[in-house]
Amino acid sequence: MTAVEETPAGTAEPVGHGRMLRKEDPRLVRGRGRFVDDVQLQGMLHLAILRAPMAHARIVSIDTAAAEAHPKVKAVVTGEALAEKGLAWMPTLSNDVQAVLATDKVRFQGQEVAFVVAEDHYSARDALELIDVEYDMLDPVVDARRALEPGSPVVRDDLDGKDDNHVFDWETGDRAATDAVFERADVVVSEDLVYPRVHPAPMETCGAVADFDSVEGRLTLWSTTQAPHAHRTLYAMVAGLPEHKIRVVAPDIGGGFGNKVPIYPGYVCAIVASLVVGRPVKWMEDRSENLVSTGFARDYIMRGEIAATRDGRILGIRTNVLADHGAFNAQAAPSKYPAGFFGVFTGSYDIEAAHAEVTAVYTNKAPGGVAYACSFRITEAVYLVERIVDCLAHELEMDPVALRSKNLIRPEQFPYTTRTGWVYDSGDYEPTLREALRISGYDELRKEQEERRARGELMGIGVSFFTEAVGAGPRKNMDILGLGMADGCELRVHPTGKAVVRLSVQTQGQGHETTFAQIVAEEIGIPPQDIDVLHGDTDNTPFGLGTYGSRSTPVSGAAAALVARKVRDKARIIASGMLEANVTDLEWTKGAFAVKGDPDRSVTIQEIALRAHGAGDLPDGIEGGLEAQVCYNPENLTYPHGAYVCVVDVDPDTAQVSVRRFVAVDDCGTRINPMIIEGQVHGGLADGVGMALMEMIPFDEEGNCLGGSFMDYLLPTALEVPDWETGHTVTPSPHHPIGAKGVGESATVGSPPAVVNAVVDALKPFGVRHADMPLTPSRVWDAMRGRATPS
Ligand code: CDP
Repeated sequence: MTAVEETPAGTAEPVGHGRMLRKEDPRLVRGRGRFVDDVQLQGMLHLAILRAPMAHARIVSIDTAAAEAHPKVKAVVTGEALAEKGLAWMPTLSNDVQAVLATDKVRFQGQEVAFVVAEDHYSARDALELIDVEYDMLDPVVDARRALEPGSPVVRDDLDGKDDNHVFDWETGDRAATDAVFERADVVVSEDLVYPRVHPAPMETCGAVADFDSVEGRLTLWSTTQAPHAHRTLYAMVAGLPEHKIRVVAPDIGGGFGNKVPIYPGYVCAIVASLVVGRPVKWMEDRSENLVSTGFARDYIMRGEIAATRDGRILGIRTNVLADHGAFNAQAAPSKYPAGFFGVFTGSYDIEAAHAEVTAVYTNKAPGGVAYACSFRITEAVYLVERIVDCLAHELEMDPVALRSKNLIRPEQFPYTTRTGWVYDSGDYEPTLREALRISGYDELRKEQEERRARGELMGIGVSFFTEAVGAGPRKNMDILGLGMADGCELRVHPTGKAVVRLSVQTQGQGHETTFAQIVAEEIGIPPQDIDVLHGDTDNTPFGLGTYGSRSTPVSGAAAALVARKVRDKARIIASGMLEANVTDLEWTKGAFAVKGDPDRSVTIQEIALRAHGAGDLPDGIEGGLEAQVCYNPENLTYPHGAYVCVVDVDPDTAQVSVRRFVAVDDCGTRINPMIIEGQVHGGLADGVGMALMEMIPFDEEGNCLGGSFMDYLLPTALEVPDWETGHTVTPSPHHPIGAKGVGESATVGSPPAVVNAVVDALKPFGVRHADMPLTPSRVWDAMRGRATPS
């Protein structure tokens, strides 16, 4: 482990890594942020979308005459009209197709059926009510468990020859070896676990402003996207527009959490509308539209099995998963990974064998399956392993910490190849676990629990230990729709020594304008305040695959460090000319080159920048200017880890859970800005408490979405979460140029099992071994009475 130098908040301004207040905050806290809905263009029209009121129905007819007659309406467009232009269907990120506007039938409640373009937002909404759609109702498939039953209604009869709801089967690991360890194990524990469908629920919903200039043949699209460059390429492919004539601008974004990775029909409708009416068009969905129709996360029905020796040595893990992909397979994951990175379900443990199989099905629900609030399915994998390990502890009557400790991968085993083929780059797990136990006072907590139990109180202590896999990805085996998962970065140092760094990733609140300036500052010695970070505009930034799954720091952060080193290498040559010394005789101290042994003979990076652009000769073969560009292709993912301890109290009379304490010790390698990391962790922990206790998008038997507003879809507030207690260890990534690993989604991945483990632990006196999320009072009540709540 290496020590990390931290500058206390609000004191000296650090150069490079350290606690630095966020550069973007003055703009955001003063209301000067510019979000998509703030974009106002001359002559701009407004678009509203008519959505299906039911989950499954054939479209018999659509009468748009009354809507077209509305005095403020400029256009009404149906799926049929789009089909004439070849635009009724678009590719999804998983190589499926999704209807932009339904042509044949609607396949989920909330699906896009038609759109209206009007002079103002309210007229567009009013006119939706004038569209008369005749539907022929069909039976829906709502429960994924019934999707493959013979005779089940077929959701995707648009696909050639499709007569069932099967999407894919995928497996990983070694089935025979796993079965063999299960045969000889002393103990085998099985449990059914449901990770319910949840929503990323960013504060800002999705939207776009499209402006097509028919004279220039140029499209500008302001949109809520986490991946502007990838979106631009896909628009070029779908709409047939030349890519260099498309500019995608992602201005300030009010949270993404994976929700803004896919291309949604609304974006395409806005583009089509601008092409059709020849004016800029804005589409901004409302909260309900966002909750019912855009990318969900999870929806994995898992059977987990674990095999061990009587003294707690874990031998193998196997699992069977039924994945509900909704009406279109729009999961966001690298092409070769249909179940995302679920393959890391062996967690942080050194085991002998593992096997997983995943079957995905179509149902009459909204499509999705997105990163972060999904983390390429690592969230599901970590939940599975951390829950099933606790079930094993329950059966063995062993302390869950002792069981984990006994099986953690040891530091000398890294790089560690898991039984499913993932190469964990580095890790030192035991100190992280110890730190979480120290901060929480674990032994004392267990004593307190004993005393409380004796008094009939229900106190629970839950532990989780997770390993994340972030930074997709090495382009040799990771792509999205054929686009390699690498990221570019460009750095220009101006003559006066101020700099601009241009990124291909896209911040949605993670603080990139600060941390990327810090990365460059650390390498090149220009203060972060003198470095502007540009992102979110395809005309002004290099190509790359964007921000999701905590990939910014592992991929683009590496690119930023490398581009700064490239500039520094050139600066060294220029400095050698200025100091009349050999390049090899110069040494770098942050911000200046000096002649070795003669520190008075030195030049600062600012002086070098001026010389690079100024009059006078430069060393032979060196061009003027001080700038560089790189495209970084990561060698491997980075593998952050963490140990979490959660303490809950359950009210025996109301079954209400309250989270009393939560201790999170994270290891994300080299820490660029500890303050921002803490913010990321706090947010992810709140997310985890929400999912464990409150969040779920349920459906009734007809496929009506019952989580379409924040009255029904409960998000945690300050009232539901404790004061977070955080700690850290530092195990740098050996292949990342500055040793940093991602952290953005770690807490979302690691916290749900800690909370559930704590609640189940509280219910131990009732003999409870498992209860499914969200652990609402009614579910906890049922669990206490031995009743299973249908999930
Ligand atoms: O891709 P995304 O930005 O969502 O996730 P990330 O790469 O984990 O970074 C989230 C934020 O934490 C960014 O501002 C990072 O620069 C910062 N971070 C850090 O300061 N040190 C790390 N080791 C990892 C992330």
